[in-house]
Amino acid sequence: MIIKSFFKVTMVTFIGVVALTTGIMLMSSCGGSGRVKILSEADSLKGLKDFYLDYFPIGVAVSPRSLQGEQGEFIKHHFNSLTAENVMKPQLLQPQEGKWNWEEADKIVGFAQANGMKVRGHNLCWHSQTGEWMFKDSLGNQASKELVLARLKEHITQVVTRYKGKIYAWDVLNEAIDNADPANVGYRQTQWYTICGEEFISKAFQWAHEADPDAILFYNEYNTENPAKREKTYEMLKKMLDQGVPIHGVGLQAHWNIGGPRHVGQLHQQGEGEFVIPGTSEDAIRESIDKFASLGLVVQITELDVSIYTSKTDTINTGFTPEREQKQIDFYKMAFDVFREKKDVITGVTFWNLSDRGSWLDSRTPRRGKHYPLLFDENMKPKKAFWEVVKF
Ligand code: GLA
Repeated sequence: MIIKSFFKVTMVTFIGVVALTTGIMLMSSCGGSGRVKILSEADSLKGLKDFYLDYFPIGVAVSPRSLQGEQGEFIKHHFNSLTAENVMKPQLLQPQEGKWNWEEADKIVGFAQANGMKVRGHNLCWHSQTGEWMFKDSLGNQASKELVLARLKEHITQVVTRYKGKIYAWDVLNEAIDNADPANVGYRQTQWYTICGEEFISKAFQWAHEADPDAILFYNEYNTENPAKREKTYEMLKKMLDQGVPIHGVGLQAHWNIGGPRHVGQLHQQGEGEFVIPGTSEDAIRESIDKFASLGLVVQITELDVSIYTSKTDTINTGFTPEREQKQIDFYKMAFDVFREKKDVITGVTFWNLSDRGSWLDSRTPRRGKHYPLLFDENMKPKKAFWEVVKF
């Protein structure tokens, strides 16, 4: 009895001290931006997701390894939705025909279930990270349309069926619209498209829907803030919807940067030109959300990060300077102001990676080096931008 109440008192004191310390830390950490924010003790104990319970789930892209130890606790504290960063991509799940690797993907789904989190499935059909075997016949020549579609059906059916009732939303199709020339965007000339034509798109959604009629099915794309690409994406979706294809939502990847919503990584990867985004970043984001919502679709922000570098010609590796930090704070605040305003159509916001300790952007060429794109620093502590996003 005495021991029990001693334990209780000690725990209460401990929690109080943690809250107080965090509160004090908040005050001092925000002081640098010239603004002092004092959060209540209760708020200072909350994770990112808790501030958004009345808005939308807050997700994060993870690897199975990150679910352990300190990082696992961090994920549980701040997020209530998970996306597999890689292990559910076609090549990882089915590297050879009929050879399935479920183990890693199962770990993510198991962790989410054990901790009451949602899972977004990512992704069922993409031109990248997909086994070459999908497009080859037994002689190594290009496979026929019938064979390629049959394989796509088998892949989608197996994957969606396995996680039926456990994965609530799927990125069925990733990046089908070309990005090369803003004046002339059309379908990306992938093997899916050149072998199957548009049919692979409608079929992919139909097969996913047949496998799990309750799953919310997304088309996921980047650079939709570019008006030409947005228009083309819109036209494709409208055409499909008019044909009765079961598409329920659009995923805006949102690999942005402090200069506006441009997709630094992909542009670098493909050696493409820079896009000029007319209007402010805020307008571009707003217009994208409104345009897709006007089709009756829900919108999710699926891969959010905000690099501190604005283009491939931006000064390389300056580090996290106070100027870049302030721009990032302002950008994140603006973006979340818009997301909250659009909460009727936005049904999820997912970050791509956990913290500035490691982002996919850091290993990209030609700009190898740290991009500091997330809300948590290298020690997984909230950055100033975090407090701007949760204080509303
Ligand atoms: C795209 C894909 C993601 C991921 C990122 C970069 O946006 O949709 O799965 O591969 O590129 O890591």
